[in-house]
Amino acid sequence: PLARDFTIAIDGPAASGKSSTARAVALELGFGYIDSGSIYRCATLLALRHDITDISAGAPDLIDLINKASVDIKFQPQSTRSAPNLITGRLPVPDVRILLNDEDVSEEIRKPDVNRLVAKVASDGGVRSAVLGIQRALARAAETRSKSVVGKEGVSSVPGGVVMDGRDIGTTIFPNAELKIYLDASAMARAIRRWDEMNSSLKRAKPPAVPATAENTPAEYPSVEDIARELEERDYADINRQHSPLRIAKDAIVIDNTSMTFEQQVYSIADLARDRMGLE
Ligand code: DC
Repeated sequence: PLARDFTIAIDGPAASGKSSTARAVALELGFGYIDSGSIYRCATLLALRHDITDISAGAPDLIDLINKASVDIKFQPQSTRSAPNLITGRLPVPDVRILLNDEDVSEEIRKPDVNRLVAKVASDGGVRSAVLGIQRALARAAETRSKSVVGKEGVSSVPGGVVMDGRDIGTTIFPNAELKIYLDASAMARAIRRWDEMNSSLKRAKPPAVPATAENTPAEYPSVEDIARELEERDYADINRQHSPLRIAKDAIVIDNTSMTFEQQVYSIADLARDRMGLE
């Protein structure tokens, strides 16, 4: 019989490595991938572009914009052009492009104004229900299908599935996910990784006159302290919001990757999944 399609939920705080890990796990297992945070980031970009920055009393106009918007997440397992860095080492991490109303906003949704506003936008109950439908539909569309493979030992089946990362995937979006992972790391490890990631892309866009280090950051680049403060504010908002706060699902496996290599965590999650799918 064909194995059933398998859902992996990966939740955790900002910059815990969810997205790179989820993409590498999806590549390893031949699954699809959905970055749920990018949908909240698209909603935030819509808010910024339409000057809707006060959402304290609900955001009917923004909800309307989200309902009318099309969001597409293009996972590209063949394209692993992201350069190896401090975090990912040599393991390939496929590229993902985010399309909002057919416009490629992949870079724009990672900019500081979006970072600053996204947790506030994601705390609104109306915004969350508008995003929920998009999330489930995208995940189902991205899911790869199980297939039969004829080999030396007869017909076997290769399971299909999807990996989705976010804050409430295991608790709210896919409470029946076959495997739930809660990925965490110390606040400083997360800040240094995010700093490295931002500097790598800034350096690609505009090479620095002086090489940047964590202790010596050129003025135009954010410092590790700035990033640590921003992550702390976002975690606080994500943990303390009323609707679907960041929580560890009771059946989640907690992985603290502060002192793990990227390879170790990717292979340990892929092995857990294979184990639960009844594969070697
Ligand atoms: O994973 P990220 O940093 O791209 O997520 C951006 C924000 O979106 C995060 O601060 C909280 C919100 N988010 C959420 O509330 N629920 C999710 N499933 C994913 C993200």
